[in-house]
Amino acid sequence: MQKLLTWIDDRFPLSKVWNEHLAQYYAPKNFNFWYYFGSLALLVLVNQIVTGIFLTMNYKPDAALAFGSVQYIMYDVSWGWLIRYMHSVGASLFFAIIYLHMFRGLLYGSHRQPRELIWIFGTLIFVALMAEAFMGYLLPWGNMSYWGAQVIISLFTAIPVIGNGLAQWVRGDFVVSDATLNRFFAFHVIALPLVLVALVFVHLVALHKVGSNNPDGVEIKKKKDAKGIPLDGIPFHPYYTVKDIVGVTVFLMVFSAIIFFAPSFGGKFLEHDNFIPANILSTPLDIVPLWYFTPFYSMLRASTTDFTHGMLAVATVLVAGLAFFTKRGFLAKLMSVVIAAVLIVGMFTLQAKLWGVIMMGSSIVLIFFLPWLDRSPVKSIRYRGSLYKSALTIFVVSFILLGYLGTKSPDAVSLVLFKNVTWAQAFTLVYLAFFVLMPWYTKIDKTKPVPERVTFK
Ligand code: HEM
Repeated sequence: MQKLLTWIDDRFPLSKVWNEHLAQYYAPKNFNFWYYFGSLALLVLVNQIVTGIFLTMNYKPDAALAFGSVQYIMYDVSWGWLIRYMHSVGASLFFAIIYLHMFRGLLYGSHRQPRELIWIFGTLIFVALMAEAFMGYLLPWGNMSYWGAQVIISLFTAIPVIGNGLAQWVRGDFVVSDATLNRFFAFHVIALPLVLVALVFVHLVALHKVGSNNPDGVEIKKKKDAKGIPLDGIPFHPYYTVKDIVGVTVFLMVFSAIIFFAPSFGGKFLEHDNFIPANILSTPLDIVPLWYFTPFYSMLRASTTDFTHGMLAVATVLVAGLAFFTKRGFLAKLMSVVIAAVLIVGMFTLQAKLWGVIMMGSSIVLIFFLPWLDRSPVKSIRYRGSLYKSALTIFVVSFILLGYLGTKSPDAVSLVLFKNVTWAQAFTLVYLAFFVLMPWYTKIDKTKPVPERVTFK
C-alpha cells in the first residue's frame, strides 16, 4: 500500500491534499449541532446529482411526453418511484438544510471578517439553488409546474419598456410551452448543476483558506502552540468526519421516513395540483410555489398600490431620516436624501407589481451585504446584546410567517384581525428592516466581553 501511495504521490498530490484538508486541517474543538448542516448540504447535493442522472435516463423533455414519462418512472421503471422521491424529497430537505446553515451564520457571525467571501459564495449558491429548483419544478409538466412558471416568468413584464420582450425571450414563446420546457431542462440538468458544483468548490476553498468560525466567534488561529497548531483546534479527520457521520445517520433516518411514509408530505413537497397534467385552459385555484419559496412569494404579492403609497413610502422616509441625522459626512446626508427621493418618486409613478419584484429582489440582494451591514464588535450571539437577539428572533418569526402566508390566499384572514396581505406587508417591512437597520442596532447594542479561548466543556 505504501509503495502504491508513493507512486501516486509522485504523480498527484494525494497525501498532501489529504493532510492539508483533512488529517492536518485544524478545526475549532467546540463545534456544535449547527455545524452539521454544511456536510449535510454536500450529501444532499450529491444525492440530487446522482438521482437526477437516473431520472434523466427515463424522462422526456417534451411537452407532449414529459408528464407521461414521469408516470412511467413512477409505475414502470424498476425502483423509479424511489429515485424520484429521493430527488423530490431531497430538493425540499436541501432547502431546509440551507436555511439552517445560513441561520447558523447569523447566530455566530460566520459572515464577518475574514469570512466575507465564504458568505458571498454561499449566497450565490443560494441564488443558483433557487434557479435550479424553479426550473426543475417545470419538468414534470404538472398543472402547478405550468402555472407556477407562467406566474414567475410574467414578473419580468413588470419591468418598464423591455418587460414584455424580456418575458417572451425567457419563455421562447408567447406562453410557457415546449420551448420553455426544453431550455429549463438544459439549465436544470447541465448548466446550473455545473455552476452549483463550481460554487461549492470555491466556497470550501475559501473556507479552508481562513478556517472555520465557531460558536464563540473566537479566531483559533490567533493562539498557536510551538508547532504552529492552533491550541483550540483538533484535526478534522478523524474527529469531525466521525461527528459528521452521526449527523448523516440522523438525517438519513428522517430522509427515509419521509420517502417511505409521506413522500408528498401532505402536498408540501409535491403539490396536489401537480398530479394533474399541465392544462393551459385550467388555472389552479391558488397558484402557490413549494414551501421554500413561499416567504419570497409573500413579499412579491405584498405589494399593492395602497402599500407602496402608504407604509412603504413612510418606512423609506423614516430610514432616510435616520441616515440623515446619524451620518456625519455631507455626502452621506446628501445621498440619503437623494436615494429616498428617487425611491419615493418611483413608488408613486411605477406600478405596484414592479415594487413587489423589487422588494423580493432586495430581500435576496441584502443577504450579500450582511458582512458590511453588521457593525457589532463581537461575532457570536453568545456575546451580543439584547438588541441583536431580539432583531434576529423577530426576523426569524417574520420569515416563517411570511412563508405561511405565502401558502394562503391574500384576501383571506388566516392570522388575526387583518387580511393576509396586510400581515405580509408588515412582515416584509420587518424582513427588510432587519438588514437595513442593522448598521445602527448592531453598533449601539451592549455586548459582553469575548473570551480569549473557545469555551469547551
Ligand atoms: C450547496 C450548498 C452548500 C454547501 C454544500 C455548503 C457547504 C459548507 C461546508 C461543508 C461548510 C463547512 C462546515 C460547516 O461549517 O457547516 C460550510 C461553511 C460555511 N457556509 Fe456553506 N454550503 C452551502 C451553502 C451555503 C450558503 C447558501 C451560505 C450562506 C449564504 C453558506 C455560508 C457558509 C459559511 C459562512 C460557512 C462558514 C461557517 C463557519 O465557519 O462558522 N453556505 N459550507
